[in-house]
Amino acid sequence: MVLRTAENYVEQMRASKVWQSIFRSGTGVTNLNRALRIQQNVFLHLFSVKARRKVLSFSVTWYLGALTFGTFVILVITGILLMLYYHPSVPQAYADMKDLQFVVSSGVFLRNLHRWSAHAMVLLVFAHMFKVFYRGAYRPPREFNWVIGVILLLVTLVLSYTGYLLPWDQLSYWAVTVGSNIASAVPLIGAKIRFLMLGGNQVNANALLRFYVLHCMILPLATIFLIAIHFWRIRKDGGLYPGEGIKGANQNG
Ligand code: HEM
Repeated sequence: MVLRTAENYVEQMRASKVWQSIFRSGTGVTNLNRALRIQQNVFLHLFSVKARRKVLSFSVTWYLGALTFGTFVILVITGILLMLYYHPSVPQAYADMKDLQFVVSSGVFLRNLHRWSAHAMVLLVFAHMFKVFYRGAYRPPREFNWVIGVILLLVTLVLSYTGYLLPWDQLSYWAVTVGSNIASAVPLIGAKIRFLMLGGNQVNANALLRFYVLHCMILPLATIFLIAIHFWRIRKDGGLYPGEGIKGANQNG
C-alpha cells in the first residue's frame, strides 16, 4: 500500500512539466521508457540499457567494482570538506591537522573517514582486479578495459601516496623523502624525475604544493575521466562477462 502510494508520487513527478523539460524520456513503466531513461541521460548512458540477470547476482562480481567506486565517491566528498580547513603551506598544513583534531567539530571523524576510505579503496581495487582475473573477464573483447583498469590501479596508488605528504608531519616528510629517493634510482632520468616530483632538490614547500595540486585536482579528475571510460567500455564490450559457455558472452555490444 505504502509502496503503491510512493510509486504514484514518482509517476506524478515524472509527468510534471518541470521533469519533462529536463528528462525527455516518456512517462509510464514500460520497458521502452525504462530503456530511454538510461539511454538519454548524460551520466546513465555510459551504462547498458539491458543486463543479463545472472551478472547482477552477488556471486559474479562480489560487487567489488561498485564498492571501489563507492569508496571513491566518499573520498571526493570528504576530500572537498577537508579542503575547506586545509592550507597547503609550511608550517600551516600541520597546524590545520591539529585544528581538525581539536577545534573543528567532527574534524577527527572527517579526517578518519577520508583516511579509512582511502585504505579501503586500495584494498578493494586489488580485490576487484583479482576477481576479474579469476573469472577470466580480462579476455577479448574486454582486454582494453583491463588496461584502463591497470591505469586506474596505478592512479589509485599515486593518489594515496600524494595524500600522505599533506599532513606535513614527520611520517609524511620521511615517507616522501624515501619515495622520491627511490624514484631517483631510475637509470638515466632518475634525478630529473625526483626534481619534477619535488619541484626542487628537497622535500619542502614546493613539494607540498605539487603534491597538493596532484592530490586534489589532477589525479581525481584523471580518475573520474578513466572511471567514465571504464563504465562505458563495459557497455561497448557487450555487458559484464557472464562466464564460460554463455551465448554471446564474448561479443561486442
Ligand atoms: C578506481 C578503480 C576501479 C573502479 C571504480 C572500477 C569499477 C568497476 C565496476 C563498477 C565494474 C562492473 C562490475 C564489477 O566487476 O564489480 C568493473 C568491471 C571491470 N573492471 Fe573495474 N574498476 C576499477 C579498477 C579496475 C582494475 C584495477 C582492473 C584490472 C586491472 C579492472 C578491470 C575491470 C574489467 C576487465 C571489468 C569488466 C569485468 C566483466 O566484464 O565482468 N578494474 N569495474
